[in-house]
Amino acid sequence: MIPLPRTGHAQMDGEHQTLIHWLETAAARIGDAAPLDEALYAIDVVRHLACSHFDDERIEMHAWSYPRLVDHERDHRELLNALEGLRRELAAREDAIDGASCAALRDRLASWMLTHIIEHDQPYAEWLRSGGEAPSRPR
Ligand SMILES: [Fe+2]
Ligand SMILES: [Fe+2]
Repeated sequence: MIPLPRTGHAQMDGEHQTLIHWLETAAARIGDAAPLDEALYAIDVVRHLACSHFDDERIEMHAWSYPRLVDHERDHRELLNALEGLRRELAAREDAIDGASCAALRDRLASWMLTHIIEHDQPYAEWLRSGGEAPSRPR
């Protein structure tokens, strides 16, 4: 499995592992020229898990009045848009995707996750551990 940086936030780290596992599964199914339905199903699972994970992060960040929430959510939306585009592209194809393109696709999405974790999730977890800055922080 592609190694991801850890945030030290147990729920976040666990959900990131599940996401990367399914992302790799989706890429393998596409690369194996598995039936299109299976490849689309795997993409749908990634999208569903991503939505659920992003919701968990948003709800928690909102509860703690995280000051960089808007910025964070914008980055989440970019991945969801990329997944939508990928699904549309796949559904419109009649031929199989070659192995190299498939690996490039997997690497592109994994790279997005890695960058997002380093630039957004880790700073949030760090902010949370440091006690945050917002006066409305719940107790
Ligand atoms: Fe995350
Ligand atoms: Fe995030």
